[in-house]
Formats: sequence, structure tokens, C-alpha cells
Amino acid sequence: MTSVFLHCERIEKRFGQVPVLRGIDLQLQRGECLVLLGGSGCGKTTLLHVIAGLCTPGHGRVSVDGRVIDDAGSGHHLPARKRRFGMVFQDFSLWPNMNVFENIEFGLRIQGVRQAERRRRVEEVLDQVRMGAFRDKLPANLSGGQQQRVAIARALVMRPRLLLFDEPLSALDAKLREELRHEISGLIRDFDMTAIYVTHDQSEAFSLADRVALMHEGQIVQIDPPEALYNRPVSRYVAEFLGAANLFEYQRAGNDLALSCNLTLPPPAQSVPEMGHLVVHREKVSIAPTGRVNGAGGLVDLEGVCRHQAYLGERCEIFAEAGNGAVFRGFSAERIPTGASVRIRFAPEAMHFVAH
Ligand SMILES: Nc1ncnc2c1ncn2[C@@H]1O[C@H](COP(=O)(O)OP(=O)(O)OP(=O)(O)O)[C@@H](O)[C@H]1O
Ligand SMILES: [Mg+2]
Repeated sequence: MTSVFLHCERIEKRFGQVPVLRGIDLQLQRGECLVLLGGSGCGKTTLLHVIAGLCTPGHGRVSVDGRVIDDAGSGHHLPARKRRFGMVFQDFSLWPNMNVFENIEFGLRIQGVRQAERRRRVEEVLDQVRMGAFRDKLPANLSGGQQQRVAIARALVMRPRLLLFDEPLSALDAKLREELRHEISGLIRDFDMTAIYVTHDQSEAFSLADRVALMHEGQIVQIDPPEALYNRPVSRYVAEFLGAANLFEYQRAGNDLALSCNLTLPPPAQSVPEMGHLVVHREKVSIAPTGRVNGAGGLVDLEGVCRHQAYLGERCEIFAEAGNGAVFRGFSAERIPTGASVRIRFAPEAMHFVAH
């Protein structure tokens, strides 16, 4: 059974005259991993800092386990150190003069945990992040990935109620990023951690999150599990942010859909707003030379011309023009000569419609 752990209500924050958070409402379930995703400057770090208690909201309320920890109305503010949250930052922030063991142990010392217990807990997390062999090394003698493992261990050893990550992998190279992403995901699941993870990287967000909150200009524009966010974006902004390649303005014309490029599509089964944008993800679009198409029924089937292609190894991305300048992107198993006639096909269920 799930229960609400963290509740943010109508959070607003300004820096000077500039509104940076504009009415954030958010509920996090216990054991959930929520990813805050969004472009640079949309307010992700600021929201994380409000939750951590590193800055106070100008308006609104934050509660944990039903207890208010921030209330802009009354001025109540539980200091960060009393929240029992762990934080992992992009720049690792390890103590340079302490070795790995001491870095991880430090917080327990401050808390007055006894030596034997400290040792036991540090050993345990060293094992979990596979850094046991490096316990005597100084941070300067570790790679970026190893330093970040220590930073994660240092947060985990405190057994935080909530783990907050702010772009922990963005200082690392691509291969290491992916490797550590899997490890973090494993740790969060193994410990049944409740976590909020900030990133501007979509694949990181999708692979880690139970739910993703997509932020834009200080607001959450959609919060959903990754599949729902990807397949059912609520707006053109969300679809574009998530890289939807086929996005066409349309208007209903009787039963049909009239795309702005003089192309008419047959009536879809689902109910569709009067006007808006049609979204079709490119991996759902198959493009093949005209003669090779077998007559599989039920698909939207358009005539087009291959204008451009990108060979990707296992398949080929095709840019095909249909109708009056509408370019559909889709995939073909093989190259198609530029200028060749093609069929552009996708299932009606692959169509998604947004009103704005
Ligand atoms: N202490 C501050 N004083 C003034 N403005 C600030 C301060 N902190 C952040 N801002 C501004 O608030 C906005 C949101 O910043 P924030 O750091 O939350 O964005 P972000 O989503 O984390 O971006 P990034 O992906 O670049 O880290 C930005 O326009 C930033 O310049
Ligand atoms: Mg940030």
C-alpha cells in the first residue's frame, strides 16, 4: 500500500522580482522515485532546495509524513539538518583531506554514533557501492565515478528519509553515466528509498523514474509515469520537449482530420479536440518503397516521396514528404533512394492529439 510521504502545496519562490517557482503542487508516495525533468533555468534545483530546506518558499507549504516542515504563511521552517534528508550533488562535494572511509563516516560521527556501529554501517554501504577496496584513498586519487559512489554512500549511510539528487551524473562521461545510472536505480530499489532526482536528460529520467515531473518556467506541466508522459503528452510543449518528431497542426473537417499541409487523414477512433496538434512518434511510423508494401489492413497509409535519410546501422531513418510539404519521419529496414515513391504507414492508435 502506498501513502503520501511528501506534500508540496502551491509553492512559489522569487529571486528579487523574478518568479522562479510559480505554484508547485506535488505529492510523493513513500518508496517512490520522482524525477524532476526540464531545461536549464526552469527551477529544478530551486524546488529541490526548497524541499531540502536550503531555501524557504515565498508562498506555500511543504509537509512530510503529515507534518508541516515549511509554511510561508506562519514562517515555520524546519532547518535542513533536522529534516533527515540526504543530498547528492553534481560536484560530489567530498572532504578533500579525508579518505573514503572517513568521508562516509563523518556524518555518523557528528551524530555521535558509537565507533563499532559507525564501522559496521560504513562497511555495509562501502560494499553496496562497491568501493570497499578504496577505503583508504583520498578523493583526489579517485575517478569521477568513484567519487560519486562515495558521495552516494555518504548519503545512504545516514539512512535518510528522502534522498535528493541534483544532476549527480552530469560531470561524468556518457559510458560511466549509464553505468552509474543503473547502480543508482538498483540502490533506490534495493533500499526501497524515497527519492527525488533532478536531471535535464530524458533517458536518465525515463530509466530511473516511477513518475516524471516535467517542469517549464517554474511550473510542473505534466507529472506521469514515463510511458504515459511519452505516449500521452498533454501539450505540444511536452511532446516537443520529449523529441516527438512528427507534429502537425490539424483541424477537424467533418469526420476527417485536415492537416495544415493539405493532407487529410481518416477519422480516428478516439475523441479528438476540434483543433490542435497531431503527434506520431517516429518509431511507430514505417516507411517502405511503394512496390514492397504488403496490404496489411487498418493502418493509416499515405503516399510520399523519400527526401532524405540517415543510415543508423540496424535501420534507416527516412524523411518522407507526403502531401503538400508535410514531412514524416519514420524507419525503414533498408536504404531508400532519394526521390523514390514510398508509403508512410502507422497504426491509428499511434496518433495522439493535443489541443494546445
Ligand atoms: N540564488 C539565486 N539568486 C537569483 N536567481 C537565482 C538564484 N538561484 C537561481 N536563480 C535563477 O532562478 C532560475 C531557476 O534556477 P534553477 O537553478 O532552479 O534552475 P535549474 O532548472 O536547476 O537549471 P539547470 O538545469 O541549469 O541547473 C534561473 O533563472 C536562475 O538564474
Ligand atoms: Mg539545477
